[in-house]
Amino acid sequence: MISQQTIQQILSRIDITEIVGGFVKLKKRGTNYLGLCPFHNEKTPSFTVSPVKEIYKCFGCGRSGNAISFLMEHEKYSYVEALRWLANKYNVEIEETETSPEVKAQQQVADSLYIINAYAQKYFSEILFNNEEGQDIGLSYLKQRGFREDTIKKFQLGYCLEDRNAFSQAALNAQYNLDYLQKSGLVVVRDERPLDNYRGRIIFPVHNQTGKIIGFGARIIKSNDRAPKYINTPENEIYVKSKILYGSYFARQAIDKNDECLLVEGYTDVISLHQSGIENVVASGGTSLTTDQLRLIKKYTDNLTIIYDGDSAGIKAALRGLDMALEESLNVKLVLIPGNEDPDSYVNKVGANAFREFIANNKKDFILFQLEVSLQNAGNDSNKKASVVNQVAETIAKINKAEDFTKQQDYIRKCSELLQIEEQGLHALVNKFIRERISKQENKVSENETAITDETFIPSPADENDQSFNLLFKDELHERAMVRSLLEFGLKSWDEQNSVADYIFSESIDYDMIDNKKLLEIMDRYKTWYSEGIEPTAKNFLYDEDQQMSSLVVSIMDFPYELSLNWKEHFEGKINTREDLYKEEVASTLNYLKLRKIKRLIDLNQKDLEKQHSQEEQIMLMQTHQHLKKMEKELLHNLGTVIVK
Ligand code: GTP
Ligand code: MN
Repeated sequence: MISQQTIQQILSRIDITEIVGGFVKLKKRGTNYLGLCPFHNEKTPSFTVSPVKEIYKCFGCGRSGNAISFLMEHEKYSYVEALRWLANKYNVEIEETETSPEVKAQQQVADSLYIINAYAQKYFSEILFNNEEGQDIGLSYLKQRGFREDTIKKFQLGYCLEDRNAFSQAALNAQYNLDYLQKSGLVVVRDERPLDNYRGRIIFPVHNQTGKIIGFGARIIKSNDRAPKYINTPENEIYVKSKILYGSYFARQAIDKNDECLLVEGYTDVISLHQSGIENVVASGGTSLTTDQLRLIKKYTDNLTIIYDGDSAGIKAALRGLDMALEESLNVKLVLIPGNEDPDSYVNKVGANAFREFIANNKKDFILFQLEVSLQNAGNDSNKKASVVNQVAETIAKINKAEDFTKQQDYIRKCSELLQIEEQGLHALVNKFIRERISKQENKVSENETAITDETFIPSPADENDQSFNLLFKDELHERAMVRSLLEFGLKSWDEQNSVADYIFSESIDYDMIDNKKLLEIMDRYKTWYSEGIEPTAKNFLYDEDQQMSSLVVSIMDFPYELSLNWKEHFEGKINTREDLYKEEVASTLNYLKLRKIKRLIDLNQKDLEKQHSQEEQIMLMQTHQHLKKMEKELLHNLGTVIVK
C-alpha cells in the first residue's frame, strides 16, 4: 500500500489542467478550460476542466471526475496505478506502508493459491506427457481431437490420473497445505481422506491477464452420464467467475491488432482457433456475459463478435447479457455456426481462411438478430408483437452515448422496417425509454451525490421561526457545513494552543448527531490522519478511491452557503468573507448540530412523558424536559446568524 504521506505529497502537486492537458488540447475560457472530449467523438468542444474545483465534465457525454479518475478512465489505470503514474510524473518517492492484517491474510491466501496452481499445472502436464496413463488416455485424446503438441504446451494442458489420490499425495508430500489444496478445488476430502477432484480428466489451466494460473477447467474423457462434462475451480480469493474470460492472456495482443474480440463458448473453441492462427478469441464459459467481462473487452476494443453454434443454449444466455454491452458502447455482432458444428469442429473442418471468411460474411447485428428471433416467436399474436416493439425500443434506448447517435437513428430505421411500423412511432417510444432512464439516473445521482452539477441545491432561507429551522434540520445542511468547515479551516488556529480541528473534535460532536454516514466517515478519517501528523485537506477526500466519497466532497465544497454576520458588516462597514469569519462559522455550525441534538432529545423525552409513569418517573422526566429546554434556549441565544443563501 502507498502510504498516506506519499498520497498527500502527490495530491498537493496535482494540477488537473496539466494532467488532462497532456491528453487533450485545452483552451482557456474564463476560469475554465475547454477542449474536445476524449471520451466521445465531437466537433465542437464541450469538455470542460475547472482548475478551481479540480474537476472535469463533458457536457456532451456527461462524463466527469477528477484528475485521478481521468487517468483511470482515459489510460485504463487502476486507482493505485494512477497514483504511481502521478508519483513518477512529479518525482515523488513512493513510501509503502504495512498492509492491514486482513488484507495481508487475504494476500497470503491468494499467493498460496497461485503457488499451488502453478505446482498443479506442472504436475498435470508432466503426467500428460511422461506418464503411461497420461499418454495413453490424455495425450492420445487431445491428439485425436487435432491439438498439436506446441498448442498443448502453450495452453499448458494436463491430465489428472484416474487414481484416487495420486495428486493429493504428491502435493502433500511436497508440503502443500491441505486447507489451501481444498480451497483451490484440486482436492476434496471424502471419508476424512483427501481425494483428487479431477480424476481421469483433461486439465485446462485458466490464466489471468498477467498469465498467472487462477484455476482450472477439467474435462471428462470417458463418457459418463452421471458426471458433469466439466468441473471448474470453485470461487475463491483468486478465481472470480464473473471476471474471467478464458484465453484473454493469450489473446490481448491479437485483439488489439485486429480491433475485434471474438467470443466463443468453450475452452476447446479458443484453443482450436488459436492453433489455426485466429488468436483474437476468448471464451465466456457458456454463461451470460457480466459487466466486468464486457469492460475487460472494452479495454482492448469496441468490437465484439460472438460466435456460437446455431442450436446452442448458450445463445440465449449470451443475448441476455447483451443490453449491457450497448451501455458499455460496444458494437456487438453475432455469428451462428451452421449445422451441428461448434467453432472448434468448424475450424477443423474448413480451415482458418474459410472460417475467417464465414465470420466476415455472416456477422449479424445483435439488435436486428434479437428482433428477428422475437418476431418469429411472436408469430401473429398481436399482444406478443406489441411487447416485441417495446422490448426493441428499450434496447435501442440503451445506446446512450452521443458518439452513437447515428447508430441509434440507424437502428430505429431498420427495426421499424422489420416490424412494419411507422419510424416516427418507434422514435417516440425510444425517446420515452431514454427519458425514463435519465430520470431514474438523476434520482440515483442525487442519492449518491455526483461531481459537478449546474443546478446546485438551494435551500430556503432561514428565518427565526421554528418551522424553517426544522426544515433546515431535516436536510443535512449543517452536517455538511461542519464537515466543510473542518476540511476548509481545520488546520487554522482556533486559539493559542488549538487548531479548528482540535476544537471540533474536543467539542466531541456526538457521533449520533451526524446522520449521513459518509460524512461521519470523512470526520473519522480526518481524525485518524490528523492524529498521525498528516494535515488533511479537501484534496485527500476529493481524490479518494471511493467515488461516492469523492463526489460527496465535491458537492460539499460546492455548497451554496455563506455565513453573514450582518451586524458586523453594519458596524465595521466592511464585507467579511468566510475566510475572515471562520471561527464564527465553525462555532455556529457546531451550535446548530448541538441544537438539533437537543431538539431530538426533547422530542424523545416528550414521547416518554406521554406514556404511563410512576410519579417519581414523571418528575424526573419533567426535570429533564426543563433542563433540555434551558439548554436549547442558551444555544439559540448563542447561535450566530448563519444565513443560507
Ligand atoms: P468439447 O465438448 O470438448 O468440445 O468442449 P467445449 O469446450 O466445446 O464444451 P461445450 O461446447 O459442451 O460447452 C461450452 C463451455 O461450457 C465449456 O467450455 C465449459 O466452459 C462450459 N461447460 C460445458 N459443460 C459444462 C459442465 O458440465 N459444467 C460446467 N461447469 N461447465 C460446462
Ligand atoms: Mn466443443
